[in-house]
Amino acid sequence: MVHSFDRLKNGVVLAELGGHGDGPYCAEHGAGAALVVLGTYIVDAGDDVPYSPDFVFKSGRHNYAGYLQEHVAAARNSGAAVGVSVASINLDDTVDFLVAAEDAGADYISVCLHSTMEMFVSRGLSSALLRRENWPRLREHLAAILAATTQPFIAKIGVHDTPDTKQAVDVMAEVGVQIVHANVGNAVSEEGLQAISRLRKSDLFLIIGGGIKTPEEARSVIEAGADAVAVGTAAMHNPSLCGQLQAGIRHWAEKPKEDQ
Ligand SMILES: Cc1cc2nc3c(=O)[nH]c(=O)nc-3n(C[C@H](O)[C@H](O)[C@H](O)COP(=O)(O)O)c2cc1C
Repeated sequence: MVHSFDRLKNGVVLAELGGHGDGPYCAEHGAGAALVVLGTYIVDAGDDVPYSPDFVFKSGRHNYAGYLQEHVAAARNSGAAVGVSVASINLDDTVDFLVAAEDAGADYISVCLHSTMEMFVSRGLSSALLRRENWPRLREHLAAILAATTQPFIAKIGVHDTPDTKQAVDVMAEVGVQIVHANVGNAVSEEGLQAISRLRKSDLFLIIGGGIKTPEEARSVIEAGADAVAVGTAAMHNPSLCGQLQAGIRHWAEKPKEDQ
């Protein structure tokens, strides 16, 4: 089966960077990438979130619909597909924000299961959802998101955030998640490459990030089993990096095997 996200194969993804990753940032730093991800945005009903204020919204579509229209449109100047990432304490807010992102034209939607922020983990949310005892709730959250949305959905995880991550990825696949973006720490270290091969056993489209800076590193991560690579920190420091990595990967992937 060919998925609409198959054009991401061998792609470079500009990773979500809370406090940085708005539309103009993605347009500049994601130029030449296959996908740029806005956010992670937090929808918070309270008043006191320890997070960059530009990335926090109150509940309710009227608080973020206009912002999303403006920033999805700005991010499109990267030439890449545009994704939007959210995290929230309230499942209804998460779903509403993602539907608003789709209405604003987002090509991909994503939920951050990578936050270890106290406001989430103390309530069994975000990375805590990947812990075994919280899998019923993980299933509930993912099923609600998948039922309400139509664009390809990316579950963003940190491989080291909980001991149960690998099995939680199997739970995600059972519920119908098709794309996982995993931060594996240092992707090209022995540990990182092993983490990729463990995740590869799942039947999912795998975006892998963590310390990638060069086309050679991107290539070794893809050879280890990633379908696409993500860059965050290095692209923040070098706005040309996504384009350079993407050109390098395409050059290698499209070359006849005997020339490699
Ligand atoms: C300043 C900064 C902010 C980040 N914010 C988020 C975030 O909001 N949501 C998320 O899922 N990951 C976030 N991350 C993790 C990155 O998306 C990425 O997975 C991680 O940094 C590994 O890639 P890198 O080594 O290329 O930076 C952040 C990382 C940095 C450095």
